[in-house]
Amino acid sequence: MSDKRILLIVGGGISAFKSLELVRGLRKAGIAVRPILTAAGAQFVTPLSLGALCEDKVYSELFSLTDEAEMGHIQLSRQADLVVVVPATADLMARAVHGLANDLATTVLLATDKPVLMAPAMNVRMWDHAATRRNFAQLQADGVQMIGPVEGDMACGEFGLGRMAEPEEILAAILARLAPLARPLTGRRAIVTAGPTAEPIDPVRVLTNRSSGKQGFAIAGALASLGAEVILVAGPVSLATPAGVTRVDVETARDMLAACQAALPADIAVCVAAVSDWRPESVATTKTKKTVQGAPVLSLVENPDILATLSQGPARPRLVIGFAAETDQVETYAQAKLARKGCDWIIANDVSIAGTMGGDDNAVAILRKDGIERWPRTSKTDVARKLAETIALELS
Ligand SMILES: Cc1cc2nc3c(=O)[nH]c(=O)nc-3n(C[C@H](O)[C@H](O)[C@H](O)COP(=O)(O)O)c2cc1C
Repeated sequence: MSDKRILLIVGGGISAFKSLELVRGLRKAGIAVRPILTAAGAQFVTPLSLGALCEDKVYSELFSLTDEAEMGHIQLSRQADLVVVVPATADLMARAVHGLANDLATTVLLATDKPVLMAPAMNVRMWDHAATRRNFAQLQADGVQMIGPVEGDMACGEFGLGRMAEPEEILAAILARLAPLARPLTGRRAIVTAGPTAEPIDPVRVLTNRSSGKQGFAIAGALASLGAEVILVAGPVSLATPAGVTRVDVETARDMLAACQAALPADIAVCVAAVSDWRPESVATTKTKKTVQGAPVLSLVENPDILATLSQGPARPRLVIGFAAETDQVETYAQAKLARKGCDWIIANDVSIAGTMGGDDNAVAILRKDGIERWPRTSKTDVARKLAETIALELS
């Protein structure tokens, strides 16, 4: 990493002090760090500490004759391999979304041709505000890589989502970003199922559920970015196919099973889809009409169990992972599912928490035969990245 350079923007949040620990980690990895400190950031860390740890000059002013003579702001924005914002305040994110360039940090973010990684950090209410959520989603859509925020205690005494990811997590994300050639899943084949299934009742009606497919799509993308060949078997959702992923669209549980079996052999299967447990016993060939006799009775039969079939089949992938979306007794039901299905891990998530089903965040627990690992609530993209890294470690 000795040839790599980071342009580090330190924003004005209470967690700015953690940027100093990040700088130490980056320097230890041999990475050069050029710091930009916002005016608000300078209220939290001193230019002296930041400059000393970076072993470089600290840039703060947009209109500085000396700085512009030494290195123009455009040059500053282009010299690094990666631009990192730690912490990314609500204010900085809002200004970046709108392309504002009213200080050195935002001007550089607008002028850079390099990838950008942000670590948002703020009070839980600021994070929950619709404006912040919109800005976060828009920045992600604009290609900014986000790390965190995570759930935890806040400096203001509150608890919730909005706490900055720890410096070592940010460091790991930076190292992964700077070493894209480290693709530990190269040569591995993965099947990922995602979204709901839709079971026809008649030509116009279906039995389905509220799964958005976001978590499964993110996992497919994360596995592909680590080098895996990924076949994404997707139920009816309107999401873009992640880069490098082969997508097979299906409707029913039986179609989903057939598509998974056709995709075998594979090293990894991650069954994220919310597969309908049942389907109507018979499908009407014409639209069922209202009658004076009242509502029709829907008779259901059980669908095939995709996770159990893949786990217990002759061409079992080496690592089979299932998801358990529950609304109560989450870990108890997930434990039972792990024992019953014959898979290796179950990822349990509590879908009774508002904003999980269909939303952008998730809090999961990984249940293995030898224990449980609980991950704090974070974005589905982060869950996917961490899961892909855990899978790569398992297969290494
Ligand atoms: C004590 C204190 C702590 C703050 N902590 C945060 C924070 O953690 N996250 C945040 O988004 N804003 C926080 N703010 C507000 C920002 O400092 C303010 O929005 C500022 O304009 C951000 O500027 P910058 O993004 O250019 O650094 C805090 C303000 C104060 C006074």
